[in-house]
Amino acid sequence: MSRLDGKSALITGAAQGIGRGFAEAYIREGATVAVADINLAAAEQTAAELGGAAYAVNIDVSQQDSIDAAIEAVILKTGKLDILINNAALFDAAETVDITRESYDSLYSVNVAGTLFAMQAAAKQMIAQGHGGKIINMASQAGRRGESLVLVYCSTKAAVISMTQSAGLNLIKHGINVNAIAPGVVDGDHWKHVDSLFAKLEGKKPGEKKVEVEANVPAGRFAVPEDLAGMAVFLASTESDYILSQTYNVDGGQWMS
Ligand SMILES: NC(=O)c1ccc[n+]([C@@H]2O[C@H](COP(=O)([O-])OP(=O)(O)OC[C@H]3O[C@@H](n4cnc5c(N)ncnc54)[C@H](O)[C@@H]3O)[C@@H](O)[C@H]2O)c1
Repeated sequence: MSRLDGKSALITGAAQGIGRGFAEAYIREGATVAVADINLAAAEQTAAELGGAAYAVNIDVSQQDSIDAAIEAVILKTGKLDILINNAALFDAAETVDITRESYDSLYSVNVAGTLFAMQAAAKQMIAQGHGGKIINMASQAGRRGESLVLVYCSTKAAVISMTQSAGLNLIKHGINVNAIAPGVVDGDHWKHVDSLFAKLEGKKPGEKKVEVEANVPAGRFAVPEDLAGMAVFLASTESDYILSQTYNVDGGQWMS
């Protein structure tokens, strides 16, 4: 018997990167997974590669009607929703004096409002089902303290940590566990984007920031999505029924709390 047998999971931003890694791990543990993403073509491709227990769903977490439609699609496909991972997010970096309203609005509408209102919609569905559920939010080491060039993103991830605390306390009466994962640095497209932004802002060569950052990871390397999978399975399984409102660092030793 696998740890997520018969469970129905919705993972946002699962077309690539960490979300895709979570989808693979959940399928290995017996779950059916909605690979939900704003990039539907990429989600379809990923779902096809992951096999019969995966299916693609279009979602833009910054839009309420899109969140509601994605949950409806999950119910149509599997009849229920047991697990939500709020994984979709945007990153940006800038000098404080150069931060734009546009950057602020887009990061807050995806990372903060997207997480809150997907969590709310999933919780409503789980409450109606009457069997509890599991919600996992993606925070970051960036949510633990500010970074000179990363004000907006860091603050959105601090908000995710705080929302996880409040929602966890509020929803446990319905048997819904809300927790979060705070990764450190995870290799993939996200870090290509981060590296290129820092190259511009700090006058570095492409790839230079990554090498510097990697040298400071106590574990000695960037994570790969699979490094986070164990925590995501644990937080979705019955093994974590007595755990709520926590944010777990899975970061190769970068942050201690
Ligand atoms: N990669 C890292 O080093 C790192 C570190 C700490 C935390 N995180 C967090 O982990 C999560 C996943 O990161 P990743 O590296 O896999 O990112 P990624 O950029 O590789 O993937 C993000 C996915 O989200 C999708 N997406 C973007 N906007 C969306 C929207 N409005 N609605 C639905 N989907 C949308 C994208 O299409 C993409 O498939 C994010 O929450 C990120 O902040 C990543």
